[in-house]
This record gives sequence, structure tokens and C-alpha cells, in this order.
Amino acid sequence: DPPLRDLAAAQGKVIGTAVTGSKLTGTYGDTAAREFSSLTPGNAMKWESVEPTRGTYNWAEADQIVDFAAAHGQQVRGHTLVWHSQNPGWLADGSWTAAQLGQLLDDHIATEVGRYKGRLAAWDVVNEPFNEDGTYRQTLWYNGLGTDYIARALTDARAADPAAKLYINDYNVEGVNAKSTALYNLVKSLKERGVPIDGVGLQAHLILGQVPSTLQQNIQRFADLGVDVALTELDIRMQLPADTTKLAQQKADYQAVVAACAAVTRCAGVTVWGFTDSDSWVPDVFQGYGAATPYDENYRPKPAYYGIAKALGGS
Ligand code: G3I
Repeated sequence: DPPLRDLAAAQGKVIGTAVTGSKLTGTYGDTAAREFSSLTPGNAMKWESVEPTRGTYNWAEADQIVDFAAAHGQQVRGHTLVWHSQNPGWLADGSWTAAQLGQLLDDHIATEVGRYKGRLAAWDVVNEPFNEDGTYRQTLWYNGLGTDYIARALTDARAADPAAKLYINDYNVEGVNAKSTALYNLVKSLKERGVPIDGVGLQAHLILGQVPSTLQQNIQRFADLGVDVALTELDIRMQLPADTTKLAQQKADYQAVVAACAAVTRCAGVTVWGFTDSDSWVPDVFQGYGAATPYDENYRPKPAYYGIAKALGGS
């Protein structure tokens, strides 16, 4: 089979991976370049990474990833501008008036989006705004600015790079449920108000054998609102150790997810959250779980890899 990125291109889709900048050499770099048509910095563009001390910026890893992508004809998804997590201590621990918070938000977006103007395909402007029941998550931004922080961030991002597609991204919104319906209602209301919103990111941190049956229907209902959809952080974790039965189930799951995107015109593509099990967040966070990506620790493609290929028209 040809590389995944060629299969995806033939379907008009993008296939991406999250990457760590320092690893983009050797087999890791070769594989990322050969197989994927989009890169997302796993951490490098988060606020704590780019402005660890107020007014002192560190763009080294983010620049490296953007340059690597340009050299290999890849898109970049910027991740992420406004989030409750991975904010620098000076920001998270500060006590800010609403006016100060709004100014911090505006300046951050102008600076970061402006730096990469014209070079990024998309931005995850707002990350994880909802609780599981569909209420708004109580964050620094929500508590200080109310729900308006979302429209404000999107408006700022559009002003700083009119060419980048602007997304709201969240997890556990892959199937039709209370959280995805809250996201749906938000996007609908933003569209009605003329706020710039181009897409919805469904992170898709899934569990073996639990691909939501309503995934394609959910993608379609967002598409019908007039926005793009992307699966932005796909991984499918299993209880360790992996065995042939679990790996076969994982192949079927990956194939089902990618097929659901392939079936909807406005689904732009799928990004895996790390392409190798040696570069996955899962074992650090879910005790006893792992093997969540399409390549093993030694960069050998797993059955899951072939599930993706098959969903993209490969054999
Ligand atoms: O950089 C430090 C390093 O200096 C230190 O030695 C090491 C010790 O723990 O930590 C390193 O920082 C870690 C960082 O990843 C870089 O590897 C943090 O501890 C760790 O918490 C952080 O985890 C990231 C996580 O977001 C934080 O929430 C994961 O790599 C990253 O994959 C993950 O990505 C998120 C998406 O942004 C949003 N959706 C969920 C997804 C998974 O949590």
C-alpha cells in the first residue's frame, strides 16, 4: 500500500499526527513525514510552552514543527490557544480583573496566531469548554469573562490570521450525547450571531471496543450546520498487555472511526494523538492502559495501521 497520506489525499482527506518536536529525526521523523499530511504540536504551542514567564516567549519547538511541516508538504493544526490546562503559573495563579483577562486573551491570540499567520491550516482556538453534562466548564476564562470568552477568542483569531480555519475542540463529543449537543448548540448560536467559526474538533480519545455507534451521525449533524469537522486526537487504548485479539479489535475500531470521517464530505480528516506507542500520553494517565496508537514502540505498524489504510481505500 502507498503511505497513509497518499491514500487520504485520494479521498480528499487529511491524515495527521501529534508530534514532539525534539523527536523529529531518524525513524520518528521519517515516519511522520512519509505517512502523515498534517502535524499537530502535542504540547509546543500551549501557553505554558510559548510564554513560560510573562513577556518571555519560547517558540523554538513550535517553529521547528512548522518548519518541518513546510519542508515535507504537510499542514499544521495549531493547538491550542484558550484552555484551562497547561497555562503558565503566572497566568493560572494570578488574580485578574475581567478587563485584564480579556486583554491577556486578546494579546496572546494576536501574538501567537500572528506569528504563524498564513502558515497554519487550522487552530484549535478553544479547547474543552464543556463539562460532561453539557454545562460550561468553570475555568479561568469562563469565571472571568462568562461564555463571551469563546466568541472573543474566535474573533481575535480571525483578525490575526484570516486564512486559518478556526475550531472548537473537545473530548467525549464523538457520539450524540449531552456534551456534544451542548457543543452543537454553541456552534449553531455562534453561526447565527456571525461569530467566526469554521470547524469542530472531536478529539476521539477512545477505549477499545467502544467506538460510539452515533459517530457518523454526529459528524453529519455538525456538517449540516455548515462547519467542518475533524477528528483531532484519535487514540484507542486497551488494557495491557496487548494480545492478538485486542489488536484485531483495535484495527476494527480504527477502521470504523476513519470510515465515519471518510463518509462525510465536510469531515476534513483524522489526526492520531501520537503515531507510536512510545510517544503516547495514555500510559502516563491511565494506569494499566496503553498500546493506543497505530505503531508499536519500535515503529512497526500494528493492525490498527492497516485498519486506517483500509478505511482510506487501501487494501
Ligand atoms: O516537559 C516536562 C518535562 O520537563 C518533565 O521532565 C516531565 C516530567 O513529568 O514532564 C514534562 O511535561 C509533560 C508534558 O506532557 C510534555 O511531555 C507533562 O508532565 C505532561 O502533563 C504533559 O502531558 C500532556 C497533556 O496533554 C497535559 O494535559 C501530553 O503530553 C499531551 O499529549 C496531552 O494532550 C492533551 C491535549 O492537549 C488536549 N486533549 C487531551 C490530550 C491528552 O491529555
